[in-house]
Amino acid sequence: MDIVVSGIRSTGKLHLGNYFGALKNFVKMQHENKCYFFIADYHSLTTHPTPENLHGSVKQVLAEYLACGLDPEVATLYVQSDIPEIPELYLLLNMNAYLGELERCTSFKDKIRNQANNVNAGLLTYPTLMAADIIIHKAHKVPVGKDQEQHLEMTRTFANRFNRLYNVEYFPEPVAYNFGEQLVKIPGLDGSGKMGKSEGNAIYLSDDPKTIRKKVMKAVTDSGPTEPNQPKPEPIQNLFTLMNVISSSDTQQYFNDKYNSCEIRYGDMKKQLAEDIVAFTEPFYTRIESILADTNYLRKVAKMGAEKARESATRTIKEVREIIGFRQF
Ligand code: TYM
Repeated sequence: MDIVVSGIRSTGKLHLGNYFGALKNFVKMQHENKCYFFIADYHSLTTHPTPENLHGSVKQVLAEYLACGLDPEVATLYVQSDIPEIPELYLLLNMNAYLGELERCTSFKDKIRNQANNVNAGLLTYPTLMAADIIIHKAHKVPVGKDQEQHLEMTRTFANRFNRLYNVEYFPEPVAYNFGEQLVKIPGLDGSGKMGKSEGNAIYLSDDPKTIRKKVMKAVTDSGPTEPNQPKPEPIQNLFTLMNVISSSDTQQYFNDKYNSCEIRYGDMKKQLAEDIVAFTEPFYTRIESILADTNYLRKVAKMGAEKARESATRTIKEVREIIGFRQF
């Protein structure tokens, strides 16, 4: 049985990118594998060192996981900061992680640009913390979106390096996973790039129908194709990409045909897309509210998850300490 690990930062509510990039696959995998899914609250401090309401964000994301169909009786659902063995493994991995490789990481370079006044050590070592998250359970598969591919490559580097340096075959090589398909990148509706919390272009699972309609109707388009069967410019392709994950294949075909015959009306397309997103998120939206209101249930889930996650994490840390050579007197 494969071990599966994934997580989402607690920097905000879940959006369609998080759902289609990571959560959806995780929900599909939870019954056939040993699954660990967590809320990366330590990671959130790399960009938000003094969060206004850290606990509130963690609670929101936990409620959203549950609303999406993660079953806490089946998968292990926990909060990263409840597992002290993760920072311990992070520390040990950092001893064999090199400045050059950490500085070359694309997400670090992006962050240097975006938050030039806070280039902290946590940002630099973000990939070693992420590797610790994954290999603390000796994971094989990691359902994530395309933007995490490089982090997974670094995780494999750190896991292999550990095995080589200490001359063991201890950690498996975890792979970014999407059922043998390409990893997904869900675009935003602002013309370019990916959907993201920090990009300010996200449609959240907890958005109400009115907000969703407003966001979709504002999506960037152009004046339309002038010749049949032309390639789609990026903003238009983005609309179609979103439609491809949300709408029925008939709807996709209909608008593709309209585009190819130069008859497309983007207003109609957006209206349809908005209605399809509303229909898709509606069940989540209502469930999130009721789960959020049930603090006792959330507490129970987090406690149970922490216990299960620590069982596996303490085993790994004990073995890692032995491998490196720590001994008790
Ligand atoms: P985060 O919080 O940015 O995103 C969580 C998950 O959502 C995916 N995702 C997307 N997928 C497709 N299209 C998008 N527009 C999009 N936006 C986000 C991400 O790929 C990710 O799978 N470093 C991670 C959190 C993390 C983690 C881990 C993940 C920490 N430790 C260990 C897996 C395993 C992150 O920042 O994700």
